[in-house]
Amino acid sequence: MKDGDQMLWGSATAAYQCEGAWQEDGKGPSIWDDFVHSDKNTKGITADTACDFYHHFEEDIRMLAEGGQNTFRFSISWSRIFPRDDGVVNQAGVDFYQHVLDICEKYQVVPNVTLLHYDLPSYIGAEGWEKRETMAKFAAYCKRCFEIFGDRIPYYATINEPNHNSYCSYLVGNYPPNHVGDVQNLVKVCYHNMVANAMAVREFRKLNLNAKIGIVNSGASRADILKDTPEYREAKRYANMLFHGWLIGAAVLGKFPEGLGETLHKLGVDLSFVRQEDLDLIKEYTVDWIGDNIYARKLVKPYEFGETQMVVNNDPRQSQALEGVTVKGLFQPDIDPTTRKNPWGREIYPKCGYDALIRLRDEYNNVPVFVTENGHGMFEERSESGEINDSERIAFLEEYLDYFAKAKEDGCNLQGYYVWSTMDLYSWINGYEKRYGLVHVDYANHCQRIPKKSYYWYRDYIAFQKKK
Ligand code: BG6
Repeated sequence: MKDGDQMLWGSATAAYQCEGAWQEDGKGPSIWDDFVHSDKNTKGITADTACDFYHHFEEDIRMLAEGGQNTFRFSISWSRIFPRDDGVVNQAGVDFYQHVLDICEKYQVVPNVTLLHYDLPSYIGAEGWEKRETMAKFAAYCKRCFEIFGDRIPYYATINEPNHNSYCSYLVGNYPPNHVGDVQNLVKVCYHNMVANAMAVREFRKLNLNAKIGIVNSGASRADILKDTPEYREAKRYANMLFHGWLIGAAVLGKFPEGLGETLHKLGVDLSFVRQEDLDLIKEYTVDWIGDNIYARKLVKPYEFGETQMVVNNDPRQSQALEGVTVKGLFQPDIDPTTRKNPWGREIYPKCGYDALIRLRDEYNNVPVFVTENGHGMFEERSESGEINDSERIAFLEEYLDYFAKAKEDGCNLQGYYVWSTMDLYSWINGYEKRYGLVHVDYANHCQRIPKKSYYWYRDYIAFQKKK
C-alpha cells in the first residue's frame, strides 16, 4: 500500500472496553455499567477494570507509537464527562481525555475519536434511542465535545456501528435494552441514530474546525451471495438496504435507500415517527468520511423459513450456529462450508475487505474511507518463555491488508487503517477469553502489557509500506 499520500496506520479501542475506572473521578454510570451489574448479565463478567487504560494510557500510546503506528482510534465516554443530565461538565473527565490527546501529540499520533461507542449514559437510558429527545441530547453532547477538544481532534466519528448496535439491542437482545425481535423499535432507533448523526454534523459545521467528521459502519459495507441467480441477487439487495444502506446512504448520500420505506411498510413497521424536517436535515448534513469495521462476509440467500431474527456467535461451543440476520419473507443468512472460520464460527474471508471498499467507491461517490476496525479474535496462551506467538493473527492481517491495498490501487479512497485492537480488551458479550490485541494484557498481573509477535510484525509492515 503506497504511503506517499499520507496513509494513516494505527489501531483501535473503545472507552467501555478498555478504560475501566468505571466509578473514578466523578464518572457517571453508562447503560453498559447498568447492564453488566444487573441479573441480565448471566456470565457475571464486567469491564469495571477492563484493561485499565485509564491508568495505562501513557504506556499504551507510547507502545503504539514505538510500534510504528501514527494514529490511534479511541472513544469518549459520554458519562465520564457529563455524569448527570444537567449539562454540567465533570472536569476530571475532560482532563483525562485532554491528557490522552497530550500523549498523542507527544508521540505524533493522530487521534481518531468516536463520540459514542455503545455506552449511552444511564440517564439517557438503555431505551434512550427510542425517544426523539435523545437526538437533541446527543447533538448537544457532541457540540460540547467539539467546543472543548476543537481541532486537537482532526477526525471525529459520531457513532460507532448504529446498525450492529441496534440489531444487537433490538433483534438479538444481547446488548441493552435486550429486546428480542422488536422490529418496530429497531427501525425507530436506526432512524433516530441517523437523524442524530445529521444533527451532530450540523453542530460540527457551525464551528468551522480544522477537522473532519465521519460515522462508523459495521460489517464490511455489503452483503454477499454464493449463487448468481435473480432470487439471490434480490436477497442481497434487501440485505444491503436493511443492514448497511440506511446508514451509509443517509450519512454519505443524504438519503435513505430507494424502496426502504415501502419495504418496511410491507414488514408491518409503522413509520409515523418519520418527519420531513428530519429528512431535510439528513440531506443537508452529510459526513466527510465513512469508517468501515471489516471482519467477515455477510452471506445471505433467499428467504425460506423462520421469524425475523439475528444470531451472533460469542460462544465457541456454538460456533457451528449460523450467524446473521433473517428478515421474514426477504432473506436469511447463508454459510459457505468451504471457507475458514475463527473459533467462534466467524468466517475469515479477506476478499470481503476489497469488495466493501469497492462498493464505497462505486455506490457512494468514492467517499474517503477508514478501515476503522479489522482484526482476529483468538484464544491465546503465553509460551513458557513468556511470548505470545500469534502467527495466526499475522496471517489474517496480512491477507486482509493485501486486499485493502488492491482496493486502494483500484481507486478506492482509503485514507487509514486500524487493527482491532490496540491491546487486549473487553469483548461485549464474550468478556476476556477472546483476545484481539496487538499487545497482550496480563489481567491477573496488574494488567501488565506484553507486545505480541503481531505487534512487531505490524511495526515492520508499516515501515516497509512507508519506504515503498
Ligand atoms: C465491533 C465493535 O463490532 O466488533 C467492537 O465495534 C467489538 O467494539 C468488535 O469489540 C469485535 O467484536 P467481538 O464481539 O468479536 O468482541
